[in-house]
Amino acid sequence: MGGERTRPMWVLLMLLLARPARAMCPARCRCNDDILQTSCVGAGLEVVPIQLNPEMRHIDLSHNKIDNVHFTLSFYYNLISLDLSANKIQTLGTSNFESQHNLKHLNLSSNEVESLSKDSFKGLRNLTELDLSFNRLEELPSVTFRELHSLQVLKLTNNQLVFLEEGLLTHAKQLRELLLDDNQLLELPGPAIGDAANLQVLSLSRNLLVSIEDGDMPTLPDLQVLLLDTNVISDIHPGALAGLATLEYLDLGDNNFTSVPTASLAKLSNLTKLHFSGNFIRSVPPVAFRGLFQLRFLRLNRLDLLTRIDSRAFVDNIHLERIWLDDNIALQSIPTRLFYGNPRVTHISMRNNQLVTLEVSHFPLDQLKSLKLGGNPFQCNCSLLWLWRLQQEQMTRKSGGNDTDEGDLNIDVDHIRCAGPEPLANLLLVDASESQVDCSLGWVAAVSAVLFACLLLGTASTLLYFGPMRRRLNKRELPPRESAPCPDGATLTLTYEDPRVDKYIIGPPLIHEYRALPPWDTFAKSNDMDIYRQFDANIKTRPHIVYV
Ligand SMILES: *[C@@H]1O[C@H](CO)[C@@H](O)[C@H](O)[C@H]1NC(C)=O
Ligand SMILES: *[C@@H]1O[C@H](CO)[C@@H](O)[C@H](O)[C@H]1NC(C)=O
Ligand SMILES: *[C@@H]1O[C@H](CO)[C@@H](O)[C@H](O)[C@H]1NC(C)=O
Ligand SMILES: *[C@@H]1O[C@H](CO)[C@@H](O)[C@H](O)[C@H]1NC(C)=O
Ligand SMILES: *[C@@H]1O[C@H](CO)[C@@H](O)[C@H](O)[C@H]1NC(C)=O
Ligand SMILES: *[C@@H]1O[C@H](CO)[C@@H](O)[C@H](O)[C@H]1NC(C)=O
Repeated sequence: MGGERTRPMWVLLMLLLARPARAMCPARCRCNDDILQTSCVGAGLEVVPIQLNPEMRHIDLSHNKIDNVHFTLSFYYNLISLDLSANKIQTLGTSNFESQHNLKHLNLSSNEVESLSKDSFKGLRNLTELDLSFNRLEELPSVTFRELHSLQVLKLTNNQLVFLEEGLLTHAKQLRELLLDDNQLLELPGPAIGDAANLQVLSLSRNLLVSIEDGDMPTLPDLQVLLLDTNVISDIHPGALAGLATLEYLDLGDNNFTSVPTASLAKLSNLTKLHFSGNFIRSVPPVAFRGLFQLRFLRLNRLDLLTRIDSRAFVDNIHLERIWLDDNIALQSIPTRLFYGNPRVTHISMRNNQLVTLEVSHFPLDQLKSLKLGGNPFQCNCSLLWLWRLQQEQMTRKSGGNDTDEGDLNIDVDHIRCAGPEPLANLLLVDASESQVDCSLGWVAAVSAVLFACLLLGTASTLLYFGPMRRRLNKRELPPRESAPCPDGATLTLTYEDPRVDKYIIGPPLIHEYRALPPWDTFAKSNDMDIYRQFDANIKTRPHIVYV
């Protein structure tokens, strides 16, 4: 303490000695008197240097060993930015920034500040950005920021705050961004935050929030980003988010939800981006994201218990563009036409699930730009022939040196492996030969030969002969199906009476995907019918074209 008392005199002496000569630049600092900028990053300083040009506007003292700022900053009355991050400051004392009327950016990140007093920031009327992250603050007196009328960005990330006192932000009417990640907040500090009515970004990631009750979340008419990930939230009151009409991005990832909080989310009519990964939901029920008509990006990764997704899960999300369903380790199947209501979906990622097979009708391939399916234990039988074909097309495109075409579908060919059947186990699907994935190939050749004979016969016979022959053909002359039989739809649509049959069999390779697709489900039976009716008009009338 005695040392602190004597310091001003010592400081004054230094100043008087330094003054007559030109301002001095300490060793290992860089001082630019033209733009009035000094950088002493990692210069081993233990005190704030006072011999610099007093006109200095920007001083960077980060990564030093400075442990206090007592009486030293008043020499620099022109400062606009001051970086004191990564030092050893334990206390800011009182009124040390009193002459800093022009200071706009103050960085005190990564120090050891444990507490602040009511005059710690006295005088910083022009301060717009204050970084107090990575300190040891446990509480903030409600008067801490009372003079910071211009404050726009306040970073309190990585401290030990348990709550925020009401009134703390009463004077921070300009505050746009408030970061409170990595603290120990047990409940949403609604009353304190409510004063910052212009807030656009609020981050509360990695705290200990358990729930969001009615009235916890104040009305924030400009809030665009709300990050609540990595808490232990299991419940959001249905009305709790009603005051966030402009919210565009919400992160609820890595919480303790056991169901999608559909009713609470439905208030967020302007939401475009939602993260809900890492929760404990078992299913995604019909219209799980009700009312989120503007939603474009949806992340549903790492849902360890997820086994079921309803085919109408995303019907309300008519603007959905990208969806992630990665690392859902219990998900073995998805419903067909899951993306029926999403005419704009272009990117689908379903990596590292337990999917064994996929139908061509699962995906709106005509509009898709990216399809990621790697890391699933696929059974590479002819049910996946459509995927094999798409992959071959992509490889052909690439070898033609034309893989950057924007419009083309991009598949993660290098990661899609077969778990079976035996000869294909552990191979990349793309490396399988056509005959390995096309179980129909063998008998199609046989059938065509037989058919050719039949047609010849047919010209010489009457139609009466066809009946018995057809039966015989089906029952006896078809060679046994290969290990993986094609689903009936693929073959039974072909009868040799059909005049087109020749064309199909000998014709384009896509024939094997010719199958009688059931008509798109109508949801007429559903109780939710009215929901669909209201935006039916918005959906493109064109049904999704499946790859045939
Ligand atoms: C803020 O800074 C401007 C110049 O950048 C100055 O004119 C003004 O007086 C300062 N405001 C306060 C409250 O000191
Ligand atoms: C403060 O300094 C730290 C580390 O030096 C840096 O990571 C951070 O971005 C700075 N904060 C601001 C607001 O510039
Ligand atoms: C919704 O978000 C868009 C930008 O994505 C914005 O222009 C619009 O004003 C917002 N609407 C409302 C009601 O907040
Ligand atoms: C949240 O989930 C984790 C992991 O299942 C569990 O350990 C923890 O007890 C849960 N916490 C609360 C508050 O429910
Ligand atoms: C690549 O494809 C585009 C359109 O599909 C075509 O215009 C372009 O000439 C092609 N480039 C090469 C190198 O083949
Ligand atoms: C291919 O394998 C999947 C998964 O075992 C099975 O559901 C499907 O019926 C098989 N397809 C055919 C044509 O056998």
